[in-house]
Amino acid sequence: MTEDRKERQREKYRAADPAEGPLTTDQGVAVDHTDDSLTVGERGPTLMEDFHFREKVTHFDHERIPERVVHARGAGAYGYFEPYESCAEFTRAAFLQDPSVRTPVFVRFSTVQGPRGSADTVRDVRGFATKFYTSEGNYDLVGNNMPVFFIQDGIKFPDFVHALKPEPQNEIPTGASAHDTLWDFVSLQPETMHMMMWLMSDRAIPRSFRMMQGFGVHTFRFVDAQGHGTFVKFHWKPKLGVHSLVWDEAQECAGRDPDFNRRDLWQAIEAGQYPEYELGVQLVPEEDEFNFDFDLLDATKIIPEEQVPVRPIGHMVLDRNPDNFFAETEQVAFHTGNVVPGIDFTNDPLLQARNFSYLDTQLIRLGGPNFSQIPVNQPVAPARTNHRDGYHQTMIHKGTSYSPNSLGGGCPALAGADGYAFSHYAERVEGHKIRKRSESFKDFYSQAALFWNSMTDWEQRHIVEAFQFELGKVDAVHVRERTVEQLAHVDYDLASQVAQGIGVAMPEPGANNHKPQASPALSLDNLHGDGS
Ligand code: HEM
Repeated sequence: MTEDRKERQREKYRAADPAEGPLTTDQGVAVDHTDDSLTVGERGPTLMEDFHFREKVTHFDHERIPERVVHARGAGAYGYFEPYESCAEFTRAAFLQDPSVRTPVFVRFSTVQGPRGSADTVRDVRGFATKFYTSEGNYDLVGNNMPVFFIQDGIKFPDFVHALKPEPQNEIPTGASAHDTLWDFVSLQPETMHMMMWLMSDRAIPRSFRMMQGFGVHTFRFVDAQGHGTFVKFHWKPKLGVHSLVWDEAQECAGRDPDFNRRDLWQAIEAGQYPEYELGVQLVPEEDEFNFDFDLLDATKIIPEEQVPVRPIGHMVLDRNPDNFFAETEQVAFHTGNVVPGIDFTNDPLLQARNFSYLDTQLIRLGGPNFSQIPVNQPVAPARTNHRDGYHQTMIHKGTSYSPNSLGGGCPALAGADGYAFSHYAERVEGHKIRKRSESFKDFYSQAALFWNSMTDWEQRHIVEAFQFELGKVDAVHVRERTVEQLAHVDYDLASQVAQGIGVAMPEPGANNHKPQASPALSLDNLHGDGS
């Protein structure tokens, strides 16, 4: 049982109880005065030798670390995960084998665009990141509350985020997600269309973190004990159902209580109303990889549930608030590359980029290579590495630190071939080095249309109003027009309602074609035909 191992580990790191003794310096020296600095006489200068003053102010001066480059604002909670039954049939992941084993988790929910101090209830994607402290090491499922993503390849992520963030000259966004640069990017990169439909829907203003879904987004791979792979998409489903705010409520909350979502999470847990989510998987046998009219490696596409139903495999309960926001919620480091035996990657180019990006950013955000020693990031499985030294090293390693090593005295042995160690899925790959994806990546509109057509009347109305509100704030007329042209590929009626609301002309009705585009809106004609 791993049930209390994370709690026991955290206990070791809790600071001394302030009620148990006097105030001290960092060195443990008792202090009897903390309001007046040491000066020469009553009116003289402060003395350098006042080590308590210097330590106090110096520490304060260094309290801030960089916020996350995206997903800066968030709220976290601890809890546990339990599988409903053994999943040995398709994965050997230890935490998915035995319903009697509880695996501790830490979850961080977040918004994407705003800085740490921004409001909760903005129109935005929500992060839904889960760290499973499994007996075979940490597994991070770093997902969002929407099942698709804006772009297909992580090489575009810096461009996308630069367009999404506030204007560089004055750091003023003209709305949560509404400003010229975002819509400029979106209208020039039609692969964003499916995700933009989700973003303009009520999913982008969840009522509560307790009432929103989570998705791993990418196609991952389960691997069983024999090394056999199965493609898998992950889904979290909230036990309370999916509920959203309406736009007026969202705006009012943002004004009256910018902490609306995180306060709700905190208070629910304090009140014993523990948020609960069911984990489901869509499984696709390896041999069915090419049986879809989209590519499983394309993160702008869902696998429709009519084609592959979601199979519930377990549930997660969040039952403890963190003790300290900075130590835990701010310093937690999720990484798509943190996988355990039984869970592996696919060649989704967005996922591959993420596998580089998270560790890279955390090396600077968390000050060097030892951040996995921070309590919230520590695995409950023992970590025995040959990594040494570096900033913020807190371990006292003994002995040597190299391999192979005939002298012993510290270097851990390699795991035997008993199936315990992680071994990368032996996928066969060959090909030329090219910058090109399969043809179906260019079908930007079919699933956007599927999403639109699956909405009720009132949901469609909300989407139209959201487009009108957000695009109505865009100053550049050609950007408005080009976005409407893109929408016409999704649904002509949608595009015309939006066009009317924001005072731009409609494209030709024939443009309502959401079939794969050989050369989508990026032809020069489309780029410059708007007078830009
Ligand atoms: C942070 C999800 C795409 C880079 C996050 C977080 C989530 C997330 C949930 C916040 C983690 C936390 O709470 O600490 C996703 C999803 C994506 C995606 C679901 C697409 C399916 C990308 C891509 C890149 C990227 C393509 C880069 C190429 C980052 C970075 C952070 C971040 C740098 C900040 C991490 C940190 O400072 O700890 N992402 N992301 N993400 N993401 Fe992504």
